[in-house]
Amino acid sequence: MIRSIVRGVGTALPRRIMKNAEFETLVDTTDEWIVQRTGIRQRHVAAEDETTASLGEAAARAALANAGLTPADIDMIVLATSTPNNTFPATAVEIQERLGMRHGFAFDMQAVCSGFVYAVTAADSHIRSGLARRVLVIGAETFSRILDWSDRTTCVLFGDGAGAVVMEAQEQPGLNTDRGVLTSHLRSDGRHKSKLYVDGGPSSTQTTGHLRMEGREVFKHAVGMITDVIRDAFAATGYTADDLDWFVPHQANRRIIDASAHKLGIDPAKVIITVDRHGNTSAASIPLALCAAIADGRIKRGDLVMLEAMGGGFTWGAALVRM
Ligand code: COA
Repeated sequence: MIRSIVRGVGTALPRRIMKNAEFETLVDTTDEWIVQRTGIRQRHVAAEDETTASLGEAAARAALANAGLTPADIDMIVLATSTPNNTFPATAVEIQERLGMRHGFAFDMQAVCSGFVYAVTAADSHIRSGLARRVLVIGAETFSRILDWSDRTTCVLFGDGAGAVVMEAQEQPGLNTDRGVLTSHLRSDGRHKSKLYVDGGPSSTQTTGHLRMEGREVFKHAVGMITDVIRDAFAATGYTADDLDWFVPHQANRRIIDASAHKLGIDPAKVIITVDRHGNTSAASIPLALCAAIADGRIKRGDLVMLEAMGGGFTWGAALVRM
């Protein structure tokens, strides 16, 4: 059968690093509070000339180089983002143009922090159905642009960045030992809109708006939703937590990650953590974490990796991938 394998990965981060201590001059907070409640020590913040499109392009180029491919080899781009350069056209199409692609198609995927898992699933569906052979899956965000920098309960949590993977159709035996995406599971439930949303938009306020969150409420639901959808992925494949080589969760909060891994019985040594360096980069956090662990030699070809995310909507999902 046709599987979607990961052929290359790449990332891009804004030049400026903002450490927790900087927030002490902006809002009533401390480095100690932020580290203790979230695990975040620093995040990257985009300058004016760094946008979702430019960061996404840079991550895409890095992933293509890592795969030994050029834009000519790609037939589809899906960009997971909640912070597009414009309301329309899709920022994915702008990235297509920046890459010099005059063929194929590109579109944005809006599932907030779950966007990368949604985008991987969309890419996998296109590849397995024969609609695409090689797909650039990008997660790119500039959440710094939609933060209320006077709200200490949200502004300390997020960062900017981009990550990308090249996914490619490959004939595999059709077994659980195959390379590629083995299963993916997506969920959403709009009843939770008010717990995490942006209070603006073209059709409602004609403004961009700012991120609003009831952090405690999000926390309360996160662990249950994450563990449920991962159990769905285990049930679909027969694998268990012990079979995983690596767990690459969305990087929102260290406590949510630790609690989820603990509840699932995943060995803490198998959990990839980058939230300390990047903060919550929403749809970019999983490819940023995946790439970091590939670059430092932890994640290797053949490893079984669980990707998982939960975010605004709520949306949530998991994808089990053999590298
Ligand atoms: N610095 C200092 N104090 C802060 C603060 C900050 N940056 N932000 C909030 N506080 C205060 C609160 O005002 C509250 O004070 P009060 O008790 O006087 O009202 C106190 O800290 C505790 O707030 P609470 O919200 O209960 O803290 P918490 O332990 O739940 O941690 C979050 C807050 C936001 C870190 C936590 O709820 C969280 O991570 N939620 C999930 C957020 C998330 O991951 N969202 C993205 C999902 S994709």
